[in-house]
Amino acid sequence: AGEAFVVFTPSGRRGTFPIGTPVLQAARALGVDIDSVCGGRGICGRCQVTLSEGSFTKFQVDSRAANLSEPARNELRYRDKRGLAPGRRLSCSTQLLGNAVIDVPETSQVHRQIVRKRAEVRAIEINPIHKLHYVEVRQPDMHEPSGDFRRLCESLREQWPDWGIADDVSCDLPVLGYLQKALREGDWKVTVCLREGRRVTGVWPGFKGKIYGLAVDIGSTTMSAHLCDLATGEVAASSGVMNPQIRFGEDLMSRVSYVMMNPGGEVELTKVVREAVNHLSSQVAQEAGIDVEDIVDLVFVGNPIMHHLMLGIDPTELGGAPFALAIDTAVNVHAGELGITLHPDARAYGLPCIAGHVGADTAAVILSEGPHQQDEMTLIVDVGTNAEIVLGNRQRLLAASSPTGPAFEGAQITCGQRAAPGAIERVRIDPETLEPRFKVIGVDVWSDEDGFQSEAWRTGVTGICGSGIIEVLAEMVLTGLLKTDGTIDGAMAARTPRIESDGRTFSYRLSPEVVITQTDVRAIQLAKAALYAGAALLMDKLGVETVDRIILAGAFGSHIDTKYAMILGMIPDCRLDKVWSVGNAAGTGARMALLNAEARREIERVVRRVEKVETAVEPKFQEHFIDAMALPHRTAPFPNLSA
Ligand code: FES
Repeated sequence: AGEAFVVFTPSGRRGTFPIGTPVLQAARALGVDIDSVCGGRGICGRCQVTLSEGSFTKFQVDSRAANLSEPARNELRYRDKRGLAPGRRLSCSTQLLGNAVIDVPETSQVHRQIVRKRAEVRAIEINPIHKLHYVEVRQPDMHEPSGDFRRLCESLREQWPDWGIADDVSCDLPVLGYLQKALREGDWKVTVCLREGRRVTGVWPGFKGKIYGLAVDIGSTTMSAHLCDLATGEVAASSGVMNPQIRFGEDLMSRVSYVMMNPGGEVELTKVVREAVNHLSSQVAQEAGIDVEDIVDLVFVGNPIMHHLMLGIDPTELGGAPFALAIDTAVNVHAGELGITLHPDARAYGLPCIAGHVGADTAAVILSEGPHQQDEMTLIVDVGTNAEIVLGNRQRLLAASSPTGPAFEGAQITCGQRAAPGAIERVRIDPETLEPRFKVIGVDVWSDEDGFQSEAWRTGVTGICGSGIIEVLAEMVLTGLLKTDGTIDGAMAARTPRIESDGRTFSYRLSPEVVITQTDVRAIQLAKAALYAGAALLMDKLGVETVDRIILAGAFGSHIDTKYAMILGMIPDCRLDKVWSVGNAAGTGARMALLNAEARREIERVVRRVEKVETAVEPKFQEHFIDAMALPHRTAPFPNLSA
């Protein structure tokens, strides 16, 4: 018979096998993770490989086409039905006839990675929690009585020998409810969904190639969902809605007060948020052209109040000191227990909350950005109605929440509005003429070369959003319209009619519709001082004077120019090329937890060792706050700004 030497790339694993060994079998024997749903029957097409060109001189392997068997019937059938790219072979249906170097493409690997765009960020690795296995089950027999589930488990172990299937596979009651029907309907061929190789969480008649998971970020204003293919990590569809709880109160605290004033109000709040998740899941399922029953897993993140309401927990305790969480570990339940309609046996996983003010959404941001894996001292700020702040590195990690209020979101600002069409989002002020130019969301007429508009009245401006306010104030600082103590300089009225007197104070008119008043400046000063003070407090606690990197998370972070955030002293000094925005990092963290079992264990471990700092009880916080009222700061130097 003879033997064949085989090398798998990119892993470099190699070994010798009898001529005629299926390539998939050789790979599995060497611990090369080639995917399969059909168990080597030539149905699923997950096991594709290519024969590498030329030879692998180091091991004297001469890779020639003749060293692999000709396409067998299985493979030809698959190729006719589904198509195979040139050079691709189904490793389950191809045998080794001689020495070969075999490349396993990323798409055929079980533990593949989805590489994210930015270089600094690690890839999302897929380590499937739920995996599909196609099996052919022995039929029941009068002479050898045994239950259908027992025969199913036996077949699983026999037909999937190298896949680490547990000896004591168990299952949930809903599965038993339809197991017999599925077996008979599929003529004793079924596809089984196994959770971590030990628990059956779904059975479908015949062959089934794909299952999905849903990652949900429950924000107090908006909620978003990503539908992911659990084997490839691919986002099949995404959707977002306004959080319907808004009708019970614009911000979090007013929703907690609603519950306090209306006994049983938490039931309503829970109901509407769960309805919104159901709505999102049917929306994304429809968009992806799948059935909601194909969704077998749900991961959700949110601030502590959203997290508790999603779980049906009265958030009253989070409304006042000492802000005790009902639970500070991860939550593993059935989606059905949360009133979420997916696959009948679908699971739901809530990332752990960190503290009364620092939620599972922050845990997800940590998971996504990985400060605990860095040597560099990293500051992460997630700005919303509250700012969640995380500071640390591999050694220690601290977290706090700072009461910034909603000014950064455009609330409490005279002409403030949400970031929506009509809102001014970017501003430049000419240092000579003091004339402004700006960009308006959703308006694309009459712009200058760089996209900034100077004729406001033609553009349908309705207000200014959070990022616009940051930019206008920073530009006012740069042009001297705003003094470092935050006073709009009335003396500048001599140079521009845009400085208008309001009696004892002054304002700056940006457009016929939008004016920036002294009160607006104060609101932003208070918010930014709270943010800076929170960061400064954590730096004190860690005993560091500077940070190496700053990450701005959340929608607000992705809209502001990081330089402007520093000009106003929202964040401490840092090299500007080390400050960046990451957008919806909480959503990314939720996806990581959906796709990777190890990511769940990792964030559970990390959250346990995060040191919580309560800004409200720290006397130093007030001192930092007062110093941080100045623009950018009363005493702290910003060498990177002058550089
Ligand atoms: Fe399914 Fe090869 S393992 S086609």
